[in-house]
Amino acid sequence: MEKKVFKTYEEMSAYAAQMVCDLVNGKPNAVLGLPTGGTPVGMYENIRKMYQEGKMDFENVTTFNLDEYLGLTHDHPQSYYYFMNQNLYSGVNLKPENINIPSGTASDFEAECKSYDAKIDAKGGIDLMILGIGPNGHIGFNEPAEILSGPTHTVDLTRETIEANARFFDSIDDVPTKAITMGVGSILKAKKILMLVSGASKQKVAKELFSGDVTTNNPSTLLQLHRDVVVLMDEAADGQ
Ligand code: F6R
Repeated sequence: MEKKVFKTYEEMSAYAAQMVCDLVNGKPNAVLGLPTGGTPVGMYENIRKMYQEGKMDFENVTTFNLDEYLGLTHDHPQSYYYFMNQNLYSGVNLKPENINIPSGTASDFEAECKSYDAKIDAKGGIDLMILGIGPNGHIGFNEPAEILSGPTHTVDLTRETIEANARFFDSIDDVPTKAITMGVGSILKAKKILMLVSGASKQKVAKELFSGDVTTNNPSTLLQLHRDVVVLMDEAADGQ
């Protein structure tokens, strides 16, 4: 795994956006795996700017988001679809049919999970999977557990994740307790993985990420088994 530390969050975000720009310019029909949350906001801002400046074209790009809360519709301000629309979809020329995000309101979640993985496979897999990391080491919503699921699946969120994400909701009681997420298998199948780590609350899990030990108690450590991972951190997360 390659690690790059940046003085600031802004520098890290600009570098991440440039990586996406380089990929898309080299492969106009690239397939991107995308995260939500606080960390990638700066990257998306840079991507929108580069698009407006004519440096990138999303005409033939396909995106697959990592996860979605169960029960939240696309127009719910805290749904990940809504987040993506605000941060990326509405600012670039992605075709609606090339935008994929697991449905939090499917009538049959088993079928939704299967078809999500099948759609990724049908597109030839993900070229670049961009990830954030939870303060408990989760990637997507793959929470620390004895057993992790490989494919896309539904999951109960841990108390720690609900508390960490309560900042986006009016009250902690409004945070959904379940989500649908790509599994660790779906994530590790990506050709390349880019992880963004920001802030002091991620220091402990970020250190474990480079420990050489793999444990399902910190799902991000599984990334050590992948052959092409770049981790971008700001100094606050690195804590060295
Ligand atoms: C979001 C996701 C999560 C977040 C993680 C970090 O789609 O998959 O794993 O990346 O919870 O969130 P922030 O960036 O808000 O600290």
